[in-house]
Amino acid sequence: MHLKPEFYNQLTAAMYFFKDFAVLLYAYSIAMGGVAAAASHCSQSVATAGGGQPNSILPADISANAKNGLQFAHFLKNVQVAFFNAGLKNLTEWGTSELRNDTMEIVSKIAAQEEVHASSIENILQLYNETLVLPCNYSFPVTTSKEFFDLAHIITSVGIGATIGLNERLAITDPSLVKPVSSILTVESRHDAFLRHVRGAVPNPAPFDTGISPIWAYNLGLSFIQPGSCSVELPIPILPRLAVSQHSGALYSNGTESKGTKEFMWDPTQMPFVTEAGKPLCIGWVNQLQKPVYTPLNIITKGRGTTDVPQGFNGVAFAVVTVQQPDDVNDLATAALAGPMAIALS
Ligand SMILES: *[C@@H]1O[C@H](CO)[C@@H](O)[C@H](O)[C@H]1NC(C)=O
Ligand SMILES: *[C@@H]1O[C@H](CO)[C@@H](O)[C@H](O)[C@H]1NC(C)=O
Ligand SMILES: *[C@@H]1O[C@H](CO)[C@@H](O)[C@H](O)[C@H]1NC(C)=O
Ligand SMILES: *[C@@H]1O[C@H](CO)[C@@H](O)[C@H](O)[C@H]1NC(C)=O
Ligand SMILES: *[C@@H]1O[C@H](CO)[C@@H](O)[C@H](O)[C@H]1NC(C)=O
Repeated sequence: MHLKPEFYNQLTAAMYFFKDFAVLLYAYSIAMGGVAAAASHCSQSVATAGGGQPNSILPADISANAKNGLQFAHFLKNVQVAFFNAGLKNLTEWGTSELRNDTMEIVSKIAAQEEVHASSIENILQLYNETLVLPCNYSFPVTTSKEFFDLAHIITSVGIGATIGLNERLAITDPSLVKPVSSILTVESRHDAFLRHVRGAVPNPAPFDTGISPIWAYNLGLSFIQPGSCSVELPIPILPRLAVSQHSGALYSNGTESKGTKEFMWDPTQMPFVTEAGKPLCIGWVNQLQKPVYTPLNIITKGRGTTDVPQGFNGVAFAVVTVQQPDDVNDLATAALAGPMAIALS
């Protein structure tokens, strides 16, 4: 799972190239009056969002860890901005008459707040002369308002998990960034509460949310990206994709009933480790602040297997295929053979 140094160097070189390119584009947009257009678009978002970018003092420099972390945050924010803006357009077309009458107002605020978050992170990266992670082209598998809200809950939960993970690392290297990042985290969880409640699920299914590593966050974000549409790739291992049947089917379960069995699917040509050393494959589940739980995968056929959902897990859990069974969530992050999947359990 570890990156070879030459691979990392290539990516770093690519990112530096990209940095020059971004500066050129920025200069071009000033020359073309693009900034004035961007500003008026922004002030509209600011009014809807309820406020604009922070102007509090930032430290003279931040760690390499923080710069990396903010690039991942920028990558995920771009996914959220694209998703909510496209969804807002779709909901206008689909109509929301069967939902609460303030649904459009709240989704507009979510979209605008995501834009303010994205531009704030972008500005911080620019301030420290770091590479911006410009938006890619995306595709989101939703065609109804019900599917939109289910996926909105998943995408927001991935953002929340990644932000908890980011804060854990910033607390060590850059404590002064913990406050601004926490201020984003609480707003994201208010979004998530609404996105669940509007669909009839309780807003608060579990006492703790689930933090995830940048590797998992990046791979979850990648699943919405049209291949080859990003101008920069972040130096993170790309894991084989995992799919699960009825991935949001249990959204309405009340937390105490059995969550049954799930079927997982993967591309067996991408995961040849399966037969390696005869070690049984299992699903590693991560939820709240619990140690990972492992359940054996009963292989049905190549690339397909079923397993029981662990009892006592609630809200959104993250699942990977693995043959190792470490007790530490951070060790599991690098022991994943495929995945992760974000699964709404209750
Ligand atoms: C918007 O609707 C189009 C057409 O149905 C669909 O392809 C797209 O994924 C939808 N996006 C969102 C975020 O709702
Ligand atoms: C929304 O519905 C509530 C009652 O459920 C009503 O008091 C309110 O005026 C409605 N708002 C709009 C904008 O229609
Ligand atoms: C960013 O680059 C500018 C122009 O080269 C320089 O003046 C500034 O000090 C740099 N900022 C940081 C935080 O390195
Ligand atoms: C991304 O979408 C734009 C607009 O639809 C299109 O012009 C462009 O070619 C796409 N880029 C890639 C790499 O698919
Ligand atoms: C949860 O649902 C199950 C089965 O539908 C039911 O038996 C149980 O009473 C419910 N529990 C709560 C706390 O609502």
